[in-house]
Amino acid sequence: MPGAPSPTDDAVTRAVDALRAGELVAFPTETVYGLGADAASPDAVRRLFAVKGRPADHPVIVHIARAAQLDALARDVPDVARRLADAFWPGALTIVVARDPDRVAPGVTGGRATVGLRVPDHPVAQALLDGFGGGVAAPSANRFGRVSPTTAAHVRADLGDDVGVILDGGPCRVGVESTIVDVTGAEPAILRVGGVSRAEIESVVGRAVARRTSGEVAAPGTLESHYAPDASVEVVDAPEVADRARAHATAGRRAGLLALTPPGDLPRELLVLDPPRDVEDYARVLYARLREADEQNLDVLLVVPPADTYGLGAAVADRVWRASH
Ligand code: TXA
Ligand code: MG
Repeated sequence: MPGAPSPTDDAVTRAVDALRAGELVAFPTETVYGLGADAASPDAVRRLFAVKGRPADHPVIVHIARAAQLDALARDVPDVARRLADAFWPGALTIVVARDPDRVAPGVTGGRATVGLRVPDHPVAQALLDGFGGGVAAPSANRFGRVSPTTAAHVRADLGDDVGVILDGGPCRVGVESTIVDVTGAEPAILRVGGVSRAEIESVVGRAVARRTSGEVAAPGTLESHYAPDASVEVVDAPEVADRARAHATAGRRAGLLALTPPGDLPRELLVLDPPRDVEDYARVLYARLREADEQNLDVLLVVPPADTYGLGAAVADRVWRASH
């Protein structure tokens, strides 16, 4: 990204050394910042779960430098996984395949026989993964259940001294997490909508791909309460905004609004957050706006999500919905 800070080669080398020493490294990706640990080291992975505050049975994505490493970390990789990797890596797609137990510590995947793999599309992540050589287990670099970080400052605010190395690669270009596709079953299934749209995935798979519902997978991005600020998030349709805003004002609640196109005739008390320019921008700024709701001490944030079931807007609507529960 033009003008984005770019850590020096020295900083990346220090980060690689830290990973090799079993320490944690926060790093930028195009989706959100990740909190990385050596995926082959059970101790490093234990530390990762402790800092993140994540239940031990919730699997973490393993990041690799290139698609050629698929076979180093996974077994029985189906053809559809290779086609998806060819089409979308580096990029915002995580592919769940059968785990190679020698290369990925069991703790990474909560003991599951599968592993989610992703090649991120960010020069700093790429340099880190290239230098390290092996898989880097990394959830988003926030405490469990909270809003994902899209800048290095967000990581510092959330994790503080609990992470020794934070690589600053500027604000994330995509802004919502990767799409997760599980290819270990008879049919590929989408476990989480994200940076790559369902339409794009279906064009590669060649047919409709089901979205598996949350009840079937016990995994954090698929839990209902997630990505949540302290302010309560209320999902509304555009025509309801003025009435809801008046109700909150009457009840003495500080309310704000996030919408692509804020409607007219709103009560003065309503704090209208800077509207995103389009759906891509909505994804990019969503988490920063959720944080802003807390910085502004809002009691309630009204959010009008994009109406979209196949594109990037579906990922935005999904995160807004989870933040509201
Ligand atoms: O964009 C992203 O995916 C970011 C960046 C850092 O890569 N990572 C991220 O990680 O969002 P995290 O841990 O916050 O969310 C990972 C999601 C969780 O919902 C987890 O359950 C799911 O991926 N997941 C990971 N491995 C899995 C597996 N083997 N089977 C099923 N779900 C898996
Ligand atoms: Mg997360």
